[in-house]
Amino acid sequence: MTTAHAADATPREVSNAAPSAVAEAVVHLQACGLGRRFESRVALGDRIAGWLGAPSDRRAVQAVDGVDFELRRGEVLGLVGESGCGKTTLGRMLAGILPPSTGQVLLGGQPVMQAQGRHRKTTSRVQMVFQDPFASLDPRMRIGDALAEGPLAHGLVTREALQDYVAGWLQRVGLPADAGRRYPHQFSGGQRQRIAIARALAMQPDTLICDEPVASLDVSIQAQILNLFLQLRHELGLTMVFISHHLGVVRHVCDRVAVMYLGRIVEIAHAEALYARPRHPYSRALLDSVPRLHLDDEGPVADLHPIQGELPSPLAPPPGCHFHQRCPLANDRCRQQAPGLLALDEQRSVACHQSEFT
Ligand SMILES: Nc1ncnc2c1ncn2[C@@H]1O[C@H](COP(=O)(O)OP(=O)(O)O)[C@@H](O)[C@H]1O
Ligand code: SF4
Ligand SMILES: [Mg+2]
Repeated sequence: MTTAHAADATPREVSNAAPSAVAEAVVHLQACGLGRRFESRVALGDRIAGWLGAPSDRRAVQAVDGVDFELRRGEVLGLVGESGCGKTTLGRMLAGILPPSTGQVLLGGQPVMQAQGRHRKTTSRVQMVFQDPFASLDPRMRIGDALAEGPLAHGLVTREALQDYVAGWLQRVGLPADAGRRYPHQFSGGQRQRIAIARALAMQPDTLICDEPVASLDVSIQAQILNLFLQLRHELGLTMVFISHHLGVVRHVCDRVAVMYLGRIVEIAHAEALYARPRHPYSRALLDSVPRLHLDDEGPVADLHPIQGELPSPLAPPPGCHFHQRCPLANDRCRQQAPGLLALDEQRSVACHQSEFT
């Protein structure tokens, strides 16, 4: 355990400005008290038993719970955490394709989704790139048609200019212009992810939500796709949320990183600060759990420090601080009272009752 500097230890209500030279001072994307609850699906047999009077066990999952943050224009935020902590659910709400149960998402001050009625997305300025590019492409549709659909429907291009428009985006992501005549199965995994990126960009967004965009790719291809994201970010001034369970990937792509645990953000910090000195006990455990190799006299040895304890069921998260059952610093207050996310300094905010000791 390290001891905090006195100046670091005082929570203050300050925003965590982005370090990137690309990011501007303007607040662009805002998550305001964002929450999403899913009712558990009830099997038909259980439903019939319920109609006949049997007690039902309809528990809900609070997949995302009171998330607040702001992103500046041109900034890239990484979103990390163990599987099931709510990253995809948060990403889908940010992209305006999943209605929140509470709170809202603002882009340039405007809601990305209608609050009432059919919860329609209100803007094409935010687009999502999914983990599995094959699943997000219709296998019977030529790539050119898949890319043309959205821009035509939104009046972003005329029919006359369509062919050049599609070819332009395919080339921009490193594919041959004639790729538009082919079908998804004729491409490799890396090429399909390029197509998915081109399809998102053809909608002329200023914001991309990328959900594990390299997780399904071979390691050798991952670096190429990450470089493409970095290049496009600089060329197009994109604001991005980059979801990944891989801390190494996030480190190289993001200005700031948000760490999630069971639906809540527990730390949000500039990437350098977080990797140099994580302040939330869960962030530290997550970083320590990354296997490291070193050489000793006998050859390569792996340093493995898995996170202690089981991830609690999202159906019944522990009261107070959700992390208390796995935290070496937990005390009675942690077991009863959920900590708020408070700014420690200009570089980070942490949700921990004992951040002065971390
Ligand atoms: N459509 C859904 N219906 C019911 N539960 C869901 C649904 N989508 C996600 N969940 C639950 O919400 C929690 C968060 O899921 P998810 O956002 O996919 O996490 P992550 O992307 O971090 O793995 C999980 O417990 C998951 O089972
Ligand atoms: S609030 Fe308590 S249990 Fe939660 S991370 Fe901080 S010290 Fe650990
Ligand atoms: Mg996910």
